[in-house]
Amino acid sequence: VATQGSGTRVAQRPSGDVATAARQRTEHPPRYDLRPGSPDLSAFPRSAWLSAARRALNKAPYEAFGYSDPRGRPELRAALAAYLARARGVRCDPERIVICSGFAQTFRLLCDVLTRQGARSLALEQFVEPTTDAVSAASELNVRRLPVDEAGAVTGQLSDEDAVVLTAAHQFAIGVPLARHRRAEALVWAHDTGGLIIEDDYDGEFRYDRHPVGALQSLAPEHVVYAGTASKSLAPGLRLGWMVPPAHLLEDIVTAKTVADRNSSAIDQLTLTEVIASGGYDRHVRRARISYRRRRDQLIATLRQRAPEAEISGIAAGLHALVTLPAGLEEHTMVERAGARGLAVTGLRKFAAPADLPSPALLVGYATPPPHAFTGAVARLCAALDG
Ligand SMILES: Cc1ncc(COP(=O)(O)O)c(C=O)c1O
Repeated sequence: VATQGSGTRVAQRPSGDVATAARQRTEHPPRYDLRPGSPDLSAFPRSAWLSAARRALNKAPYEAFGYSDPRGRPELRAALAAYLARARGVRCDPERIVICSGFAQTFRLLCDVLTRQGARSLALEQFVEPTTDAVSAASELNVRRLPVDEAGAVTGQLSDEDAVVLTAAHQFAIGVPLARHRRAEALVWAHDTGGLIIEDDYDGEFRYDRHPVGALQSLAPEHVVYAGTASKSLAPGLRLGWMVPPAHLLEDIVTAKTVADRNSSAIDQLTLTEVIASGGYDRHVRRARISYRRRRDQLIATLRQRAPEAEISGIAAGLHALVTLPAGLEEHTMVERAGARGLAVTGLRKFAAPADLPSPALLVGYATPPPHAFTGAVARLCAALDG
């Protein structure tokens, strides 16, 4: 791949292997990056985190340095219960929260527990984040795919599955919220069949044009596992996530967490507690929301002007937009053209069910680049669309 300004390099081969993809992401960081899945890492609130860590270490009782409750530190669970009730409408008792190493571990533990309890099948949305796909493929559950349209997952097609994963606030990948009637259908299915809804609320804090859609969990806490993560609100490198499961799953989840890794890092949990309690978390999310909204508006305005034939959607929330390619332009051609300009982009097909061939589109992660690279990244995207 010839890249202007940085010479010629051996091109990365596409790979379906999530581990390889993750390694490549860090080994060969592109000059310009509009791939989805990351907040602006350059905006990580280093000084707020550092002072919170200092306070946390000063305050921590010595027992905090030992093995702790597998559910996580009580301080963090209490802070999260208040935050989730306020910000996402989640109904939860701190005793019910389990801190995990991101959604990846939350989902892994849930697959283990469901299998042990006799579950056989799991529904995933037609478009899904590759790690979720890989975790379910590694489980013993049969995976079925639920179609997704402009109202989100077609939940009326749920039948005898034991569980379903829904990105209700912002469908990953196409970016639509789950419509009211689809939410109702999912809840009726859960009530009638005993099926479990796993609500992957990965970027629920980021809603731009209206008030955030509240969590599904608040409507049926005994049928929904609410799953949140710090990966979009702060940084994926923290590996901190949380789940609020129904009471009947709690004991088995706690056992699975203990077997997996005893407990997540107590020091990081105490630091996050301080960040939340000091208002630093809310401030950071508020600032990030303003910055991402500005970027989103700039992306829309630039594309409308320079590539009017590319259709942009999924823009009301989240950290990425769906850009449907002009007729005749294939995803791999766009990925190559962008790569030749030093820009990494990802096609929608990477997130689609295996037999599915959606219209060629890109998932443009407008939060990903640091501020100084954003305008250049969008300019390169437009140039690649131009040919
Ligand atoms: C749909 C979806 N869920 C969850 C996550 C976060 O996963 P984790 O908390 O393991 O970093 C991501 C990250 O890209 C995602 O896209």
